[in-house]
Amino acid sequence: MDELRKRSVVITAALPYAYDDLHLGHIASTHLPPDILYRYLKLKGIQAIQVCASDDFGTPILIAAEKKGEQPREYVARWNRRFKEDLEKLGIVYDVFDRTSSDENVQTVQEFFTRLRANGYIFESEVSQFYCEYDKKFLPDRYVKGKCPYCGAEEQYSDGCENCGRTLQPGQVLEPHCSICGRPPSTRKSQHYFFRLSAFAGKLEEWLKSNGGLQADAKNYVLNWIKDGLQDWDITRDISWGVPVPLPDARDKVFYGWFDNHLCYITAALKAARRTGTAGAEFWNDSTVYHFIGKDIVYHHYLFLPGMRLGDGRFKLPDFIPTRGHLLLMGKKISRSRRWMITVRDFLDIFPPDYLRFYLTRIVPFSQADANFDFKEFADKINNELVANIGNFAHRALSFVETRHGGVVPAPGAAGVDEAAILADVESALAETGDLIGQGHFDRAIKRVLDFSTKCNQYFQRKAPWNNPAEEPTTVFYSCNLVAALATLASPFLPFSSEELWRQLGFDRPIEADGWDAASKLRVESGRKVQARPLFTKVEEKDIARVNVMLG
Ligand code: MF3
Ligand code: ZN
Repeated sequence: MDELRKRSVVITAALPYAYDDLHLGHIASTHLPPDILYRYLKLKGIQAIQVCASDDFGTPILIAAEKKGEQPREYVARWNRRFKEDLEKLGIVYDVFDRTSSDENVQTVQEFFTRLRANGYIFESEVSQFYCEYDKKFLPDRYVKGKCPYCGAEEQYSDGCENCGRTLQPGQVLEPHCSICGRPPSTRKSQHYFFRLSAFAGKLEEWLKSNGGLQADAKNYVLNWIKDGLQDWDITRDISWGVPVPLPDARDKVFYGWFDNHLCYITAALKAARRTGTAGAEFWNDSTVYHFIGKDIVYHHYLFLPGMRLGDGRFKLPDFIPTRGHLLLMGKKISRSRRWMITVRDFLDIFPPDYLRFYLTRIVPFSQADANFDFKEFADKINNELVANIGNFAHRALSFVETRHGGVVPAPGAAGVDEAAILADVESALAETGDLIGQGHFDRAIKRVLDFSTKCNQYFQRKAPWNNPAEEPTTVFYSCNLVAALATLASPFLPFSSEELWRQLGFDRPIEADGWDAASKLRVESGRKVQARPLFTKVEEKDIARVNVMLG
């Protein structure tokens, strides 16, 4: 964390494909973890920018737009707006939420290609492409389904297997059939451009081995992929929707979606940086760079993305690629096709955003292990931890000020041993929670905040202000200050509830204005007017019943 202090931090969340709503799985692995880090860094006074974008190009999007009878450009613009709305409702706000199809990104992508080519990492080759004689079109990627040549899984798209996680090159898939009409395709010759990923095997291996910031589990299987041999990537497609290849004899070709999408991390970060007055590769290279992803896109982020950056030579490789597992829903794999999923929109129709943030943070570890969203456990955790622990302490303390002191914080007497002890715990809660966030262990960090809240409840209980009139004002005064500390400690995780608590404490300035470390100070002065309102309400049977209806 200390070396971060001098530099800025760039945080990216994997870009959602612009063809379906965000669901709980996206939030768990990709959008919530970076937001916790981002909020924490800002509280620590570290310059951080957080960026994301809609992933607009590629066959999945084109297919979806065609099905709707819409122009892809309008189609993706709609998703881009929806993503921003959903994420904002969850308190996840990006400095720039771009589009991979933005003019700036198109320029970045074409520049990259031109430089990679000049540096000798692009070659041309004639390839056989699937072609559907019936639909009269080339069938790249998701236009073809078939059997995975590695693990034998059926009905896999021709560009990658969801079962074993391998990416597939055109032509590798077995028993191919057209995903529009189901007929077996014929093949036609087409001239394509390739990125020489194999040229970077040595450098990538070196980087993977020397970068201590990468997770060991991911690193090990990526190193095995290198050992198996890296394939050069066909980076062009014969479709109309994509970044045009900037060469006169490639007018009808566009880039493959995975060539352009991750470059939008750079495009968006530089857009955000320009607002702060710095820009260009220098800003990027002076920053600590985090790419938050889910484990299904490890290959792309640990090999393809760094390979392209090495070949271009201007932008540094990521320092961290925090990679999390899948989110299961009631023990089963989330699936769009079977509609076994809960969208962010649907969830927020029933529950407040902090409930999702809280529960996901509690259950998602910093590893590639899968987590399971279980609504019974969700109800228990909200009721026993948010309501009965954090909410209970805040409400008890502030109600005491209302009922006994007309809402005005009383002047304390001298602090005793109990006060000294709990104030010491504020200090260690701040330090330990901060360290855990810095290490990426958000699940353990929020546990530490809960432990602190438990101690606050114990303090209040032990001091029993309801039958200890002599110490009562002291207890109440310190409790109000503990509530303020709790608001700061919880704010990276529960921004809405923390702000609400903060307002109940009568503060006009935002929590962020004080920063993280100020939470160890006594900020709630005697004489301040406070208000007590319940912070959380219990999750009830009837709420869970609504979820069950939603899931069918
Ligand atoms: N849209 C991709 C997916 O959902 C992720 C793209 S992340 C980026 O799998 F690196 F390519 F930008
Ligand atoms: Zn067909």
